[in-house]
Amino acid sequence: MIDRPSRRRFIGLAAAGAGAAALGPIVLAGCDAGTPDATGASVLTPSSSPGTVGGPGAAASTLTAGPAPTDAGFSAPPLLGRPTDRSITVNSLPSTTTSFHIEYGTEAGRYERRTPAQDGVAGRPVESLVGGLEPGTRYYYRVVTPTGPGADRTVVTRREPGTPFVFTVQGDSHPERAGKQFDAGLYVRTLGSTAADSPDFSIAMGDDFSVDTLKTVNASTVRDVYLRQRPWLGLVGAPWFLVNGNHEQASRANLDGTPDNVAVWAQTSRNSLYPQPAPDGFYTGDTEVVPHIGSLRDYFAFTWGDLLLIFLDPYWHTPGVVDNAFGADRTTKAKRNVWDNTSGEAQYRWFAETLRSATARHIVVVTHHVNGTGRGGATAAKSYEWGDAAGYRTNRPTWPKTIHQLMVDHGVSLFLQGHDHVFAHEVVDGVNYQTLPDPANTNPSSDNADAYPGAVIHPNSGHLRIGVDPDRLRVEYVRSFLDRSDEVAYAYEVR
Ligand SMILES: [Fe+2]
Ligand SMILES: [Fe+2]
Repeated sequence: MIDRPSRRRFIGLAAAGAGAAALGPIVLAGCDAGTPDATGASVLTPSSSPGTVGGPGAAASTLTAGPAPTDAGFSAPPLLGRPTDRSITVNSLPSTTTSFHIEYGTEAGRYERRTPAQDGVAGRPVESLVGGLEPGTRYYYRVVTPTGPGADRTVVTRREPGTPFVFTVQGDSHPERAGKQFDAGLYVRTLGSTAADSPDFSIAMGDDFSVDTLKTVNASTVRDVYLRQRPWLGLVGAPWFLVNGNHEQASRANLDGTPDNVAVWAQTSRNSLYPQPAPDGFYTGDTEVVPHIGSLRDYFAFTWGDLLLIFLDPYWHTPGVVDNAFGADRTTKAKRNVWDNTSGEAQYRWFAETLRSATARHIVVVTHHVNGTGRGGATAAKSYEWGDAAGYRTNRPTWPKTIHQLMVDHGVSLFLQGHDHVFAHEVVDGVNYQTLPDPANTNPSSDNADAYPGAVIHPNSGHLRIGVDPDRLRVEYVRSFLDRSDEVAYAYEVR
């Protein structure tokens, strides 16, 4: 019987006093002593002096990230994905015709093994499966062409239960909103801060590949959107898991039975340039194969150390438009019935079974937004398919429990969502609802804060660092700035 409390204990972390004692070695320099927040915990407020960032796996660091090292013969750093206990997938993007292989080993600078040689063509991504690895082991690797080796890099295989580790999360990056919600310099600093955490893997919460503002939409322009994000995410070096957002327009409503539509262009670009999981012996998830795409790789789950991570996606499972219609005015969504938005029968049953059979100590659930649309966390948690139990009698009569209630009943520690571009922390029936801030917005605003009455709100921008220990999750909001070192703006633990 797994020791997972049905109601999680939430602990706000203070920079001084009793709360601080539980922090162990964590450094919260740059934060003033806590003050009570809306949930009764302590809020950390940044001090005026620059601070350092500490935490599990993260050396104290100031952030001076430069461009990611791009190896000769390639147009972006390798992009890692689908990490397992025994393998890692490396996605390489050659800038010229070249053969290459990957050297790797368990000691820095000593590469005792190599993958078979592969042929690369300019602009065409190539996946390399680095297999036969040992669980819970750090590997060092580099990509080698006939002209020589590329940069030295590192990755770790799945942790064994009982082993602490760190993963990181960023909210909607929206690179298409330059000058409004996106600044490339700040994005580089946030990603550099993320890299300094040495995460085992990182999560991007969606709206990272928006096609809604493209003047010309075709296979090439959509692919360019996915290519543009590659060098930025490559700054982190860790494997990436992508969440599907509404502005990706990778959704069932955009399919038309041909290979020539935005949904196919978006999902094939994503799956060819960013290795995402499909069900196998390590991951569970969406088994559907869609014509002209193949495996969607949109919802999936896996365990890592003491953590079960579950990714959900409504956009590929709702027949109609979930949020903004592709090519249409956003106001048209107001006329829709949100009950039409759905995870679908297969995903719902899989989600319930994944929770029922979970043995991990901690569970984190991730999706772009509650119901795939609207605003708010706690205010939306009891709405429509996500949480309206009374409405289920009419609208989901064969589903026994709402998604929110399933999370409550199975002791989910943390629910992560993006979409609203604000750091907001709330606790709903014992489940921590955490909404992600922007990673690259120089305006320290709190967009959509009015949808979060009573929540702990902090202004943009930055990322989340989440430490996983056998007995607790530690969530820290690391704010990044253009003109000074980053700061831990807020932290809490879930036990
Ligand atoms: Fe969104
Ligand atoms: Fe967004």
